[in-house]
Amino acid sequence: MHVNPNFARLPGSYLFAEIARRVKEYAAKNPNADLIKLGIGYVTLPLAPAVVAAMKTAADEMLAPETFRGYGPDYGYDFLIDAIRAHDYQARGVSIAQDEVFVSDGAKSDTSAIQELFSQDARIAVTDPVYPVYVDSNAIAGRLGDFVGGRWNRLVYLPCNAENGFVPAPPAEPVDVIYLCYPNNPTGTTLTVEQLKPFVEYARKNGAVIIYDAAYKAFITSDVPHSIYEVEGAREVAVECCSFSKTAGFTGTRCAYTVIPHEVTGLDAQGRRVELNALWKRRMGTKFNGVSYPIQRAAAAVFSPEGQAQCGEAVRYYLRNARLIRDELTAAGYTVFGGVDAPYVWLKTPVESWAFFDTLLDRAHVVGTPGTGFGPSGEGYFRLTAFNTYEKTAEALTRIQAL
Ligand code: MLT
Repeated sequence: MHVNPNFARLPGSYLFAEIARRVKEYAAKNPNADLIKLGIGYVTLPLAPAVVAAMKTAADEMLAPETFRGYGPDYGYDFLIDAIRAHDYQARGVSIAQDEVFVSDGAKSDTSAIQELFSQDARIAVTDPVYPVYVDSNAIAGRLGDFVGGRWNRLVYLPCNAENGFVPAPPAEPVDVIYLCYPNNPTGTTLTVEQLKPFVEYARKNGAVIIYDAAYKAFITSDVPHSIYEVEGAREVAVECCSFSKTAGFTGTRCAYTVIPHEVTGLDAQGRRVELNALWKRRMGTKFNGVSYPIQRAAAAVFSPEGQAQCGEAVRYYLRNARLIRDELTAAGYTVFGGVDAPYVWLKTPVESWAFFDTLLDRAHVVGTPGTGFGPSGEGYFRLTAFNTYEKTAEALTRIQAL
């Protein structure tokens, strides 16, 4: 048996695993260091009471033969799908059919698996810097060529930096798939409907598909779209992945959903149009048995009036942390971006981003994420998350200011 040779092409370990490894090593050598983690988007507030109540009620249902549930629908229970359609789409003037929503265990799972629908030679474009899952999953599938000098030689990078105001230009060459994430991970920046339009137009003109990761939409405070479907024509070309992880603290609970409108198609080997929705259904039927019933009930409770109020409070708490990070870093002389509509603040580093990581870890005992881990355009930048407690966030900033 030969293993998949594409694993050997990957540069080192997955970004957040590499950071965890370095932090563990540092902590072992410095057992008294009081580390504050503003690295991975690890939420710290507990689940909302309404969510836990729904989970408990559902668990109790599993005790009685009349209400016990075994295998659920592969694509999710209607009660959750309908709540998603009503609250996340209908309320914004977007109509999504019941069989266009697929409930899953995470946006990471979905955004990494969606590439199974693309042909082996599909050309991929990503904004740069980017959530590494989109890139690594395509690299493992063998679509990106080789990693040479910090870049995949078959991947199209769309730079996002201070110079272009973090507004990427659509690809200048033909691509089949474009991954977009807004509010953006890692930069915390957003795009308006007008700024998203050229991507939808590009995809419609070139027969490309957009994979739109909207995992952070709950953090939007400005007048920017919560969904790519707020852009005219997007139903024909965009798949949207959403998550309860950051919206409702489900990082450990696991629930998410992906929307694939029937209009989104690709070409089969005979040049006929095939719905991505049908392919994803086929894939889900083969590889997935659904999210557990208590967790789907918990996710549906996020949309209840109490759930909305309680989850909204948590989001505001994190946004307050983000504002604190922005304000304190600005006062300390750093140039910062994001953090207004997102739980991430992106800052310019005075040195290379891994060197800044080491300095922060060693001298401030603060863990962040080096920008270069997100792609070549991330060099010279650094990401801090707003997901720690307010007190720890404030303490981390005091330490950074003292550097
Ligand atoms: C991040 O820190 O970028 C995210 O938490 C990672 C993830 O959601 O998988």
